Amino acid sequence: MHENSLQWLGHNAWLLRHAGVRILVDPYLTDNPKATVTAEDVGVDYVLVSHGHADHLGDTVPIARRTGAMVVAIAEIAGWLKGQGVEKVISMNIGGGVKLPFGRVEMTPALHSSTMPDGTPGGNACGFLVGFSPEKVFYFACDTGLFLDMQLLAKRKIFAAILPIGDVFTMGPEESLEAIRMIRPKVVLPCHFNTWKPIVQDVEVWKDRVTRETGVKAVVLEPGEKWEW
Ligand code: NI
Ligand code: MN
Repeated sequence: MHENSLQWLGHNAWLLRHAGVRILVDPYLTDNPKATVTAEDVGVDYVLVSHGHADHLGDTVPIARRTGAMVVAIAEIAGWLKGQGVEKVISMNIGGGVKLPFGRVEMTPALHSSTMPDGTPGGNACGFLVGFSPEKVFYFACDTGLFLDMQLLAKRKIFAAILPIGDVFTMGPEESLEAIRMIRPKVVLPCHFNTWKPIVQDVEVWKDRVTRETGVKAVVLEPGEKWEW
């Protein structure tokens, strides 16, 4: 039996497992004060990179070199990664999707900036839809402010929405509630909070509000913890 799970590795780093495939989103592990696994130990088949900031690009280059994982990123980051010696790269852009052996990955807009650690422009920041089937679509909003087009996602009947709630660099708890009301996922999981002081949030208060004000099920994980779906 293959496990179906979503593991929070801290911050916006997520390991999604389905049918024996391991998909790692934003592998910020080294320097991540909340990481519970190291870049040397993590097992992965695909890496999705949302933007060039160090707390998202993270250990993408060493992990891709070590594991030979396929990296999916926006065109500017894909080109930059090739320059870093990463060979297996899928280049795409916002609004597009690619069919992969496990399902479909689509790139969504994000209201955020993107620069690589060496100062190279990283194109637009993005989020991802990972769909294993029409009933099992995961939305990783990644670093973004609230935007009205999130309401289009309601038509996709999102299974799980992974939203930032930390404020300061992304939307905060209040805006995340508005996002949940627009997206109407079956389940919502919070991230991008409590990593550092400026983005500390009371996640239990957030969870209560999600339950009372939206009726959507909130799953709050500790770093390292897995949600079996
Ligand atoms: Ni960022
Ligand atoms: Mn960030």
